[in-house]
Amino acid sequence: MTEKNKDVEKILFTEEQIQEKVKEIGRRITEDYKDGNLLIVGIMKGAGIFMYDLIRQIRRPVRTDYMVLSSYGKSSVSSGTVTIKRNLDYDISGYHIILVEDIVDTGNTMAFLKEYLSSRGALSVKICSMLDKPARRIKPVVIDYCGFEVEDEFIVGYGCDYAEQYRYLPYFGILKKEIYLKD
Ligand code: PRP
Repeated sequence: MTEKNKDVEKILFTEEQIQEKVKEIGRRITEDYKDGNLLIVGIMKGAGIFMYDLIRQIRRPVRTDYMVLSSYGKSSVSSGTVTIKRNLDYDISGYHIILVEDIVDTGNTMAFLKEYLSSRGALSVKICSMLDKPARRIKPVVIDYCGFEVEDEFIVGYGCDYAEQYRYLPYFGILKKEIYLKD
């Protein structure tokens, strides 16, 4: 049993629940992509932990790449404008892409990327996110592979940060209000 960080109000999903979900999503992807070139694209930094857990549960060859995007900067409110800070290495024409995220919030990032990658010649672009926070959605996006739906709380852990802290926690937890209200 992992000990709760003192800044975390409540553990929402444990390490065991998350790892079980990763296996389940890995099985579904293995089943859904029997042939063709599959490229898994992690949206950093948040998706890093999930992405590298996930590819070890997909029982077929995959390529990986990552993008670094930002619409939040240091703020906790999305600016709505997505900026590419690091783009893909590969020519993606002829590839089926699965975008991997830690969380879909307003949907700005995923809506932007689906359009952008399709215009660069991807055969298909699907979305895989460990968390879905539908209460905050501005752009409609379909999450093809979703881990857990969450309420409109400040969630940290398993890749999700507050001011670059707490990503390393192996569970998802709700951050105490006093931590982010004091800044
Ligand atoms: C977070 C998260 C997603 C995005 C989701 O990234 O990892 O990429 O916000 O929000 P949206 O649905 O409102 O677009 P952030 O920009 O905070 O950077 P990070 O991955 O480095 O934490």
